[in-house]
Amino acid sequence: MLIILLGPPGAGKGTQAEKITGEHNLANISTGDILRSAVKKNSALGRKAKQYMDQGQLVPDELVVEIVKERLRNSGEEDGYLFDGFPRTVEQAIFLEKALPELGKKIDRVISIDVEESELIERLTGRRVCSNCGANYHIKYNPPAVRNVCDKCGGDLYQRDDDTLETVKERLEVYRKQTEPLIEFYEKKDLLSSVDGSKSMEEVYEQINNILEDFQ
Ligand code: AP5
Repeated sequence: MLIILLGPPGAGKGTQAEKITGEHNLANISTGDILRSAVKKNSALGRKAKQYMDQGQLVPDELVVEIVKERLRNSGEEDGYLFDGFPRTVEQAIFLEKALPELGKKIDRVISIDVEESELIERLTGRRVCSNCGANYHIKYNPPAVRNVCDKCGGDLYQRDDDTLETVKERLEVYRKQTEPLIEFYEKKDLLSSVDGSKSMEEVYEQINNILEDFQ
């Protein structure tokens, strides 16, 4: 199975990706997570990517395509892939289309998670992430049991550098210009399903699971 989660920043792609890959034995390929880990390690890739990420801009396609190629080469024993945050431009989508036949894979479904902009801003500015295991929280919608402490591993929670109001607005603008065209791109290929991402996390997961049932 190969699934792509598409949606604006804060739509819940990461939250749903964690649940889906936990239940369906899929490799979770999150370009955002890979890039953040490179930034944390201060690698050459991380230093280049950081300049773009901090401004709310997309990292150039050639860098992102290289990290996806590397990730696909190193994939393990899973039954398929779930892409979270990739592709994000039409150029990246075309790269993926060309790379998949070599792996004997094809896209089963692209799931677009739709949420109103005012809700996205509230979600992102209230998001907290575990510095140790990467688990996601929200100060209002999904708070940890103890303030600023991860329920799963006890790590400290922090606010992402790109979750400030100013950078969130820039990310939403970048999404509209560079990523939203993918909705039409995949609609024309008859691969797109949409879910109402404004519902609770459990309800969104249920909608996604109903779609995935056709591909088990
Ligand atoms: P990335 O990490 O992919 O960020 P994003 O797409 O902006 O998405 P987010 O992680 O912000 O949101 P999400 O949809 O995963 O929502 P989440 O589940 O966390 O990318 C970061 C940067 O890396 C980019 O800006 C770019 O620079 C670069 N990059 C990455 N991929 C790239 C690519 N392919 N090409 C070029 N550059 C790339 O949820 C958000 C909050 O809401 C959380 O607090 C959560 O608890 C809460 N929440 C989730 N669901 C619900 C719900 N149903 N109800 C209430 N609250 C909810």
